[in-house]
Amino acid sequence: MPFTTLDFDVRDGIAFVTINRPDKLNALNDEVIAEIAAAAEAIATDGDIGGAIITGAGTKAFVAGADIGELSRQGPIDGKARSRRGQDAFRRLEQCGKPVIAAVNGFALGGGCELAMACHIRLASTNAKFGQPEVKLGIGPGYGGSVRLPRLVGRGRALELLLTARMIDADEAYRIGLVNAVHPPEELLGKAEEMMRTILANGPLAVGLCLEAVDASLDMALDDGLMLEANHFGLLSATADMREGMTAFLEKRKANFQGC
Ligand code: COA
Repeated sequence: MPFTTLDFDVRDGIAFVTINRPDKLNALNDEVIAEIAAAAEAIATDGDIGGAIITGAGTKAFVAGADIGELSRQGPIDGKARSRRGQDAFRRLEQCGKPVIAAVNGFALGGGCELAMACHIRLASTNAKFGQPEVKLGIGPGYGGSVRLPRLVGRGRALELLLTARMIDADEAYRIGLVNAVHPPEELLGKAEEMMRTILANGPLAVGLCLEAVDASLDMALDDGLMLEANHFGLLSATADMREGMTAFLEKRKANFQGC
């Protein structure tokens, strides 16, 4: 697939997506957002891709935010449209039906923190820095920060970060639950791949429905979420993968899932 601002490599079932504008600390201009949307579509629909790992080019930044040069020229109508395009691209990623891990290798600010939060799991390098500095620029988050941050770290911590624009380091991000783990920079991608391979060894239909259940039930009443879970539980019981997984356990061997 021809991308100009992303590297998109598929290796052994994993799409490695690298935001590649290191001279601008991988800031998200309109072209990057459009290419993230296309990449999310490819991840969702390409049967050879089981999951994706997203990182930033270079050693300094994951993504240092939306491109401030572009934002500085926007008015209310195109500003809202830009926000919606970014939200849609990130939402497609979040709902691609396959696991997506953010390997946060440096600054993850504004749209960068928002991109990481739209991924299902976040691993950070020890030099990663997170923040939602939009209010310093007189604007608010536009790509889901005010919605996903409180869901991840709670309302009080989210509001503190959103209102103060304070940057936090990887250890603090780990302590408040914004990231799942912290690794030395040279180990980050390897750890992300290791985690992805662990996930991909599991039943793909079951993994897909876990993603769907958690995404949907966060917005549901408890009883509706429980019903969705029971429906998934029943549905998976009709699959060859469930029979294979349980037979493999009973026969003390590794399961060989086919995704059906
Ligand atoms: N949009 C556009 N360009 C950006 C950018 C962004 N969000 N973040 C960094 N860049 C560009 C800089 O303008 C600079 O470009 P130049 O060399 O052509 O002047 C280049 O990336 C390197 O950034 P620089 O600021 O020189 O690096 P630094 O190490 O001194 O500072 C940051 C790093 C991340 C602290 C700083 O770049 C920063 O605050 N960026 C903006 C973060 C932000 O507010 N994001 C939210 C946007 S809504």
